[in-house]
Amino acid sequence: MSTNHTKSANRAGADEPTSGALLELKKVSKIFGGLVAVQDVDLRINPGEIISVIGPNGAGKTTVFNLITGIYRPTSGEISLGGKSVVGLNPDQVLVRGIARTFQNIRLFNNMTVMENVLVGQHTQLKASVLGSLFLTKAVKREEAEARERALELLSFFGQALVDRQDEYVINLSYAERRRVEIARALAAKPSLLLLDEPTAGMNEAETLDAVKYVRRLRDELGLTILLIEHKLTVTMGISDRIAVLDYGRKIAEGLPEEVRRDERVIAAYLGKAAKTEQEAAE
Ligand SMILES: Nc1ncnc2c1ncn2[C@@H]1O[C@H](COP(=O)(O)OP(=O)(O)O)[C@@H](O)[C@H]1O
Ligand SMILES: [Mg+2]
Repeated sequence: MSTNHTKSANRAGADEPTSGALLELKKVSKIFGGLVAVQDVDLRINPGEIISVIGPNGAGKTTVFNLITGIYRPTSGEISLGGKSVVGLNPDQVLVRGIARTFQNIRLFNNMTVMENVLVGQHTQLKASVLGSLFLTKAVKREEAEARERALELLSFFGQALVDRQDEYVINLSYAERRRVEIARALAAKPSLLLLDEPTAGMNEAETLDAVKYVRRLRDELGLTILLIEHKLTVTMGISDRIAVLDYGRKIAEGLPEEVRRDERVIAAYLGKAAKTEQEAAE
């Protein structure tokens, strides 16, 4: 539904953030060859919200993240952050604008330490020039010390365990720990919006519960706005302000967790028999 009709008198100033949304997708599509991966998707995320995108494998969820973060350019449609278009920016530029992400398959430098990985995440923040780095000037040393301190602060968000393991190679960490390091690295870029692509994939139940807690804390304590792709319904139902459901690239439903859970199209497309049984058991 469009609300533009009453606003047209105000349209003189271009690029005005009239909606108040932090992130807004308008009729975004992505076609790969002949395959429509994402079709006419509208999505808005208000500051401070936790929004989940769910849907079966291949529904287009990760592609939506890749479109938002500048890995792909939409075939059509508009994506804006704080009312300003991010279409055409490259991933580094999108990161500087304030959108950081994690990946469905964790992307860390396995042959680097926990600390080094988080330091890499700060590269958009550092001012020191390459030449300065070569000569290790006082300013560079100070900046590095500050960067390390900040990295430790970020790691301590997840408790003492990662602080204690800061010099450990990432490859020696558990899967759940690596997920946390990846989030710490994303936070190092000081984003306003954090995109998490299946942050509990591969985790056991205890680790998943832990992840749910820190996702909520990312919003409550750090003031982040969060867009989450998640497969586990227990996770999305518990923490989402709203849930959008994708199926074959289209958004087939959006609403409060309870609404989405009861939506017939969602049950048919995504939840399937298993979820129906789960729902009946809960009632
Ligand atoms: N770079 C690409 N080239 C061609 N097809 C792609 C590419 N990326 C994704 N797709 C296709 O787009 C569809 C959506 O994929 P994806 O966004 O990864 O789904 P999801 O994350 O919901 O599982 C799939 O059919 C996938 O094969
Ligand atoms: Mg995916």
